[in-house]
Amino acid sequence: MHRPAVFLAFLFALAPLAWGQPAAVKDAGKPVPAVFQKYCVECHGHAKAKGHVNLEHLVAQPSVGLHADTWDKVIEMLETAQMPPSDAEELPTDVERKTAAAWVRRA
Ligand code: HEC
Repeated sequence: MHRPAVFLAFLFALAPLAWGQPAAVKDAGKPVPAVFQKYCVECHGHAKAKGHVNLEHLVAQPSVGLHADTWDKVIEMLETAQMPPSDAEELPTDVERKTAAAWVRRA
């Protein structure tokens, strides 16, 4: 995490939106790349789930077997740079895309 302060601020901002428990995510034994929280959840979370994709839910229960189709799409979106949409406020770097896609593959 290159910008811990930004990340923390983001987590605190999400807390009232019932981001679930970051601790529980960590307990799953697989560190979740911050990329999803940072770039995706604003459009794909409990509050909004565009395209019926709720990454907040997926990341909290990263059992790929149960959600294989959706995770496949997530990898595709990351690697082909289709998501986030180019008009999103902030776009992930190539490294962030690769980290997130690699995490999904390992999950
Ligand atoms: C600015 C809002 C916005 C952001 C940010 C965003 N998305 Fe999306 N996403 C959408 C919308 C709108 C759709 C549904 C319409 C579409 O498919 O273009 C969608 C659809 C999807 C789908 C389903 C595609 C399909 O073929 O069914 C996936 C998977 C996805 N997004 C993943 C992501 C990931 C991963 C990120 C973060 C790296 C992300 N999105 C960030 C708005 C967003």
